Amino acid sequence: MPLVTSKEMFEKAYNGGYAIGAFNVNNMEIVQGITEAARDLNAPLILQVSKGARAYANHTYLVKLVEAAVIECPNIPIVLHLDHGPDFETCKSCIDGGFTSVMIDASSKPFEENIEITKKVVEYAHDHGVVVEAELGTLAGIEDEVKVAAHAASYTRPEEVEEFVSKTGCDSLAIAIGTSHGAYKFTADQCTRNEKGVLVPPPLRFDVLEEVSKRLPGFPIVLHGSSSVPQDYVKMINENGGKMPDAVGIPEEQLRKAASMSVCKINIDSDLRLAMTGTIRQFFNEHPDKFDPREYLKPARANIKALVAHKIVDVLGCDGKA
Ligand code: G3H
Ligand code: 13P
Ligand code: ZN
Repeated sequence: MPLVTSKEMFEKAYNGGYAIGAFNVNNMEIVQGITEAARDLNAPLILQVSKGARAYANHTYLVKLVEAAVIECPNIPIVLHLDHGPDFETCKSCIDGGFTSVMIDASSKPFEENIEITKKVVEYAHDHGVVVEAELGTLAGIEDEVKVAAHAASYTRPEEVEEFVSKTGCDSLAIAIGTSHGAYKFTADQCTRNEKGVLVPPPLRFDVLEEVSKRLPGFPIVLHGSSSVPQDYVKMINENGGKMPDAVGIPEEQLRKAASMSVCKINIDSDLRLAMTGTIRQFFNEHPDKFDPREYLKPARANIKALVAHKIVDVLGCDGKA
């Protein structure tokens, strides 16, 4: 089937108590690892491309890689989404260039300005059959060149969401309930330590999510910054020459709970990076004489596939929902 929008996917996910995985893609091996897992598990899928990914790999290469995946996986619905669109021009370029969904992220702007920019993108997108994700509230962490310190982050204010959605006409809404971008989501000071000495982050603000859902019944909510930072991969990186002390993510059971509520899209990028980097570091450590990229990218791709399969089954609950 051709690329789809997320409209029907989100309706089914909302009613079914599961979420769709939105995985960031930057090169062929990442596209293949993700899509092979979704194909084998018959899971609907969102492939997303950031401004940084377009700058790295080029818009056309990424679109063609995703189109290749669509041909290779004819039985699952796939959305091609712009992640964190910074302005109208970038959104327009993706809408004109084959994407079926865009995010306009004006969450750092004042409320009225966020509405104005989002509305302009929605009008253009809807005229072209494309859906729009918007954001209210500010996540901590790093996205593209923007770094938001933990103290500058702010939870979404539930009392603003109805006005925002009705005035902009957006199709889904990303909210801030305590997730954060990157592999260092919380400082050690923000966490407690369990009996094994492992950092335990503060719980997500499910009260904010519940209040938002009450005010927007049936409306799809999105969670960014939802990597769980698997400690096996952090260990693999650190044991093979890396240095990532105290990298910590969102516990998977909390994401599963969010998926069973109104959260229909869960964004995962950092976990894929950790899997790829850990695998390649280990490969080089074990095989210092090897230099064929196919030899180290092959296990990296296989581990991305295994990780995405785990997310689909154990976190998102969208296996068999294509
Ligand atoms: O939220 C940001 C995504 O993880 C994309 O990261 O801007 O480094 O491509 P990037
Ligand atoms: P992570 O850094 O937690 O993977 O978040 C990715 C994301 O939100 C992409 O928009
Ligand atoms: Zn994000």
